[in-house]
Amino acid sequence: MSTSSSTKDTVPDPAGADVPAVTAGEAPPAVRHLVSIDDVTNDDMRALFEHADRFAADPRAFADTCPGSISASLFYEPSTRTRLSFESAMLRLGGGVLTAAEMTSSSVVKGESLADTIRVVGGGYADVIVLRHPSEGAARLAAHYSPVPVINAGDGSHEHPTQTLCDLYNLHVERGRIEGLDVVLAGDLRYSRTVHSFAYALARFGANIVCVPQPGFELPDYVVHRLYEEFGVNPMRADARRLGALASNSDAVYLTPQKPHQLSLFTDARGWEVQQVDAVYMTRPQTERHPNQELSETAYLRLEKRAMAAESLRDAVVMHPLPRRDEISPEVDADPRSIYFKQAARGVPIRMAILAWLLGRLPVGEITGSFEGGIGSPVPAGPNPCPNPSCISRTEARHVAPRLRLVEREPLRGVCAYCNREIPFTVVGCSSSGIYHAPDSPSVRQILDEHIVLLESATVAEELGFRAAVVPGAR
Ligand code: NCD
Repeated sequence: MSTSSSTKDTVPDPAGADVPAVTAGEAPPAVRHLVSIDDVTNDDMRALFEHADRFAADPRAFADTCPGSISASLFYEPSTRTRLSFESAMLRLGGGVLTAAEMTSSSVVKGESLADTIRVVGGGYADVIVLRHPSEGAARLAAHYSPVPVINAGDGSHEHPTQTLCDLYNLHVERGRIEGLDVVLAGDLRYSRTVHSFAYALARFGANIVCVPQPGFELPDYVVHRLYEEFGVNPMRADARRLGALASNSDAVYLTPQKPHQLSLFTDARGWEVQQVDAVYMTRPQTERHPNQELSETAYLRLEKRAMAAESLRDAVVMHPLPRRDEISPEVDADPRSIYFKQAARGVPIRMAILAWLLGRLPVGEITGSFEGGIGSPVPAGPNPCPNPSCISRTEARHVAPRLRLVEREPLRGVCAYCNREIPFTVVGCSSSGIYHAPDSPSVRQILDEHIVLLESATVAEELGFRAAVVPGAR
């Protein structure tokens, strides 16, 4: 599913490290990373679930799986479940753990770049790195520099693929399938990274998503766009009256991969009536990532006993990645449909499966994964085209070179190789000829992928030394 391409040239980088070139005939290093949910196929996930079932059945019986292996937890943001479940998983597999959970006590305070920290920790200290970082795309950058597998344990509001594997594993255990389920995603859908990775994966499995956002905290356009463009998901306004108190102050949106695509985004006036729901996935307000946005706790969606009485939720399991604040009332804990503590417990066996896979201790070839650390092509000197202020290419601008990944040639679309945000452009340059063109010019088709430069404007193109193409017939 991944569209990432491995760059095998030697690439100069301001951080000082040239990525080693892999010459023809030489096998690339067999390092697999888990940076995005795109890095595992649906079959990979099913295989991981089977291993997780084995580990869950007798967690103490697998201490001979990874003896002598060491995982390093590098946490630049707080965590309870993700870090401790990874560490528990590693210990249960017979390995050891190193923890830098309080990065303010590390060399970061001395100004060390993430790339340098990763090269040090991956260069002999640990066999796998579990990274949580506030900047989007941080894990992608880390994978680029790391000689050992990097696991993204959350990068800003971007992705959290191992929480998604845990969430899907829970659906698989509780519901026996993911295909065709109706899953409500509720709360802060804008800044919840767990929601973003989960939405992509649900769409890939052919599940339907009912978005019940906190007003003002809807799924970001770039996520909706990607669901539409890459996963064929069709968003429709939904009539959520059957969700009762859960959706009373929110407009629901129904995202379905099963409908034809003729309807344009959010314009379907007919709406879609939400019937029976299989799971409600509640999230807390991600206040640490709300720039200038006041959100009163009292106004936030809250799942109460009364809401659970809705007929449409009769068989729905209630999930939450945790930590919870006030969005699920404690009286819902005793409801047999509430599985959020079981969900957290299942984080250990699924993370045992993830670690054993990335450390090469599951049957070879069984789980393929698709991401080997490729990271698109460097953008020539000039302003960083990534529009996302929380991207690692902006927060570590001194150390990180902007990079572009082309996702489509016609129409031409490129994203920031770190945070996947769409790069806006009005003209297209060719780094080989030094000429820039209008995006719809036939000449653009002739430019090789690695020579494409997406430029904000003709002025920026000329400031960078590009010359305008001579249009035939123009005077
Ligand atoms: C989530 C996270 O860190 O994104 N927590 C987790 O990993 N279980 C959810 C959250 O913090 O709200």
